[in-house]
Amino acid sequence: MTDLLTLSGVHTHIGRYHILQGVDLTVGEGEIVSLLGRNGVGRSTACKAIMGLLPPVGRITFKDRPIAGLRPDQIAHAGVGYVPEDRQVFPALTVRQNLELGLKRAGVFGRWKLDDVFALFPNLGARQDNPAGVLSGGEQQMLTMCRTLMGDPDLVIIDEPTEGLAPKLVEQVGRLLDEIARRGTAILLVEQKLTTALRTSRRLYVMGHGRIVFEGTPAELKANETVRKEWLEV
Ligand SMILES: Nc1ncnc2c1ncn2[C@@H]1O[C@H](COP(=O)(O)OP(=O)(O)OP(=O)(O)O)[C@@H](O)[C@H]1O
Ligand SMILES: [Mg+2]
Repeated sequence: MTDLLTLSGVHTHIGRYHILQGVDLTVGEGEIVSLLGRNGVGRSTACKAIMGLLPPVGRITFKDRPIAGLRPDQIAHAGVGYVPEDRQVFPALTVRQNLELGLKRAGVFGRWKLDDVFALFPNLGARQDNPAGVLSGGEQQMLTMCRTLMGDPDLVIIDEPTEGLAPKLVEQVGRLLDEIARRGTAILLVEQKLTTALRTSRRLYVMGHGRIVFEGTPAELKANETVRKEWLEV
């Protein structure tokens, strides 16, 4: 599998805090990789460093091209989609307008059309002409994920998509992840809980205190009680 995204020796400082302390990570073309870890270990910081939202030290490449130091919009344009933790919709715009804002160029669709989104999430279709502000919290989360997909990324970084969702919506997120992968888009999934990550990922990383402390397959992580006890379970 060809590497799509690589991080080697990535460090990040926020103020006087040394948050990421030498992170190595790769995501292959079309691969689903999860980044797991407890609260505060640096998972979101890693996402922001990749997206150019925090100045990283070290090497980050995407499609063999160095991207560390580029602006967030340049990194997005190169094909990296990002769904941050603090998902936000434009409440006064309609559902459809929110989705259209995700397009790289107005009116130009890639792998994802509006109808694909509405087929996966009929609730969004039924409310496509309503302001996004009337959607439930869970539906707004789906909308922000779908808006990112409208930009036709080759890799999408999704920070805790199931956080705070009811089981039924967690299932829907799982189906969306499957569908993203089916279309050949790679995913870097950040999660705390293992359920979704173990089901969908081919490979997982566990982060502890700004470093990668485990890398392996879901089966290897299941079998490794030490890592689970020390770095994941609360
Ligand atoms: N702006 C900031 N100023 C100071 N410290 C920060 C700042 N942002 C993050 N940190 C610290 O960096 C560490 C990593 O934060 P990060 O948001 O990456 O964690 P996380 O793994 O995503 O966990 P969670 O999402 O549960 O908070 C935490 O200890 C946090 O307190
Ligand atoms: Mg976080």
